Amino acid sequence: MTDITGVQTLYDKFRHDEWDRLELHRIEYHVTLTTILKYLPPPPALVADIGGGPGRYSLELARRGYRVTLIDLSSVLLDMARTKAQCEGLNIVIAQANACDLSQVVPENDVFDAVLLLGPLYHLVQLSERRQAMAEALRILKKNSTSLLCTSYISQLAHFRDIATKDPARLANQSQFYRDLLQTGNYKQLSYHARPGDVRSLIQSFPELQLLELRGCEGFLGGRLNENINQLPEHEFEAWLQLVLETGADEEGLASSDHLLAISRLIISSQGEQVVQSIDES
Ligand SMILES: C[S@@+](CC[C@H](N)C(=O)[O-])C[C@H]1O[C@@H](n2cnc3c(N)ncnc32)[C@H](O)[C@@H]1O
Repeated sequence: MTDITGVQTLYDKFRHDEWDRLELHRIEYHVTLTTILKYLPPPPALVADIGGGPGRYSLELARRGYRVTLIDLSSVLLDMARTKAQCEGLNIVIAQANACDLSQVVPENDVFDAVLLLGPLYHLVQLSERRQAMAEALRILKKNSTSLLCTSYISQLAHFRDIATKDPARLANQSQFYRDLLQTGNYKQLSYHARPGDVRSLIQSFPELQLLELRGCEGFLGGRLNENINQLPEHEFEAWLQLVLETGADEEGLASSDHLLAISRLIISSQGEQVVQSIDES
């Protein structure tokens, strides 16, 4: 089982890192935002940002006229988001909850046009917990064919690239630990690292979902290469962003990216019911 208190403590403690994270990873932020906006129904659609932390995406969507509910484990990150929303006069509903059980904060079904689950699936170490978080997201989504579920993951190879950079001796010295990580994707009881195939299997295991797009957020600029272009002037940065957007859904883009983003939609029959799809259709 996931050490939920441990995850919460981690984010409470490193709150400023989490706000700064997407400044350091500008490509991840812009690829994620651009891809989500490509599929989102137009504002003022209702969006739940579950695991939205300090609210980078919530704030931007609210600026664009979406009606946003931000939910996270960390009360410290939520306070930060509340302050930033107040400073800009943005009206965002903010609530603290575990993505696996939203019953206290969203008791009703069929509320949102889109759900972003960009964070909790990095941390839920058991498949049953990841499925529970997905099921909660589906419960609160309106049962329309335009309803969208956006999920993100940390890539398993990104973890290995990270230790190759910071402490390469660890792979041999803790070989059993890393064998297990390769098998399960789990780092202790705190985080989960996925491969593209794991993401596809998870989404395909929900017959009411159709995977529209799976892409790497940093694409071939994974492994911190993307940090080299952060300081470029806007038009030069934009050229790299376009290249990552063009290539990030290719096999190579997926394999070398640090984060994976999956966009799925609900499959609805003409009678408005969720339909069971065969696995080959997605
Ligand atoms: C790496 S941050 C991602 C923040 C933001 N969504 C983004 O993409 O930049 C992960 C966030 O997920 C939250 N989180 C992790 N597990 C969660 C869970 N089970 N339920 C709700 N939030 C969770 C953390 O508190 C943290 O704010």
